[in-house]
Amino acid sequence: MPSTTTTSKSVDFKELLSHSKEYGFVFPSSELYDGLSAVYDYGQVGALLKANLKNLWWKTMTQFHDNVVGIDSSIFMHPTIWKASGHVDSFNDPMVDNRDSNKRYRADVLIEEKAAEYEAAGDQEAAKAIIKILVDGLTSGDLASIRQALIDHKIVCAVSGTANWTDVRQFNLMFSTQIGSVSEESDLIYLRPETAQGIFVNYLNVQKTGRMKVPFGIAQIGKAFRNEIVARQFIFRMREFEQMEMQFFIRPGTEDTWYAMWKEQRMKWHQALGIDPAHLRYHDHDKLAHYAKAAVDIEYKFPFGFKEMEGIHSRSDFDLKRHQEFSGKKIQYFDPEINQNYTPFVIETSVGADRLFLAVLAEAFTKTTTTEEDGSTKERTYLDFAPPIAPIKAAILPLVKKDGLAEYARNIFQDWKFDFECQYEEKDSIGKRYTRQDLIGTPFCVVVDYDSMADGSVTIRQRNDGSQTRMSIAEAKQYIAEATSVKNILKLL
Ligand code: GAP
Repeated sequence: MPSTTTTSKSVDFKELLSHSKEYGFVFPSSELYDGLSAVYDYGQVGALLKANLKNLWWKTMTQFHDNVVGIDSSIFMHPTIWKASGHVDSFNDPMVDNRDSNKRYRADVLIEEKAAEYEAAGDQEAAKAIIKILVDGLTSGDLASIRQALIDHKIVCAVSGTANWTDVRQFNLMFSTQIGSVSEESDLIYLRPETAQGIFVNYLNVQKTGRMKVPFGIAQIGKAFRNEIVARQFIFRMREFEQMEMQFFIRPGTEDTWYAMWKEQRMKWHQALGIDPAHLRYHDHDKLAHYAKAAVDIEYKFPFGFKEMEGIHSRSDFDLKRHQEFSGKKIQYFDPEINQNYTPFVIETSVGADRLFLAVLAEAFTKTTTTEEDGSTKERTYLDFAPPIAPIKAAILPLVKKDGLAEYARNIFQDWKFDFECQYEEKDSIGKRYTRQDLIGTPFCVVVDYDSMADGSVTIRQRNDGSQTRMSIAEAKQYIAEATSVKNILKLL
């Protein structure tokens, strides 16, 4: 019987966490001091992957769409901006504590999980009923009804197993600090909880200086900060994270068309990254944020279930109107096509760079088991990143260190490093070096052997199936540059 190979793409959350740490993707922040809750650092490999994802998003938005431009606004902004945006008054999560375990939860998450449980059991009515209590309670401020729902639906604490809940209280998620050196003169300011407001308050600047015509978009990548009540899901929910947001300014009345267009575009983008379409789905919001007229999430099937990765929101003219009101400055657009002034409506796309990172990492995790002719089995793990987003594009490996092979390989590295991220490695056997590269998802290993010295050829080994092809050094460089180009992803859109 010839050897057979089976491939598995599922990953256990714990395994993903330990792989992330062991191979330099993500480290807990301040680990030397026992860590800081819900804050993480990206390691030497993770930082490259994250930069590639951000770069791809940026290129998609600002290079691929000729009517979208990018900005980089500051984290600190005038405090009135957060009053105008509604965050000071409404950016709250309902929190509740279990009296027996002292564990803190988000009451809305507990209820949404219960609704998902009802749905999974086929009881749509019960799911709808409990979501209605949540939405009504949050809208009217009747938090007692939400607490009662926790009790009535026997929603219990995962630790104590009881429904002994405190009152539900609203908790504002914004971090604040003081600006100014002398405390009496200092003012309270916030660390931005979203990058979107930096775009809204620059709308006039960009529209005028860029001579932008509606419809047009402004994109931005940057840090955001939220004092999350519950943060127990690795980089899925952090207190310091990064957003990639784009506000698309449109003529009022055209919002449904543009909402549908961006909804489709963004789903396509995630699929173009190599995410299995079966692991992605839309989820319409039941409870809308204070600014939203319509909202949908693109959810990814994380190892802990389907959860939000990106939000697409139809925000009407809420934000620009509020900034007009609070700043006293006119924010309007004269549309020469219809000879009218108006406040543009907005469609927003907002994806968390960290959640995208987690999804791409989970998606890449691949294990194969090969059963040989004699019945023995061999297991292999590799990260199946699409080559354009892989942290390292090529590893250049001399077969052995001696007889001038190392110097020959180093010279290739010195030439290729100008064109793509590559790594030179000479330590350990070639098999061990392949394994190390597989575990960080390097798509190509380039091996320099004795024939290379004679005829200037190298072997390219493919990460996924281990197959090897011989070609000249110049051909190999060209081959890798083409295979790892972001063009391969952009042309799928
Ligand atoms: N401007 C709209 C906005 O901020 P959001 O749904 O609150 O909308 C958008 O956030 C995206 O930001 C989410 O889909 C998620 O990917 C990411 N995000 C939000 N909170 C996060 C957190 N605590 N940790 C990591 N990512 C987060």
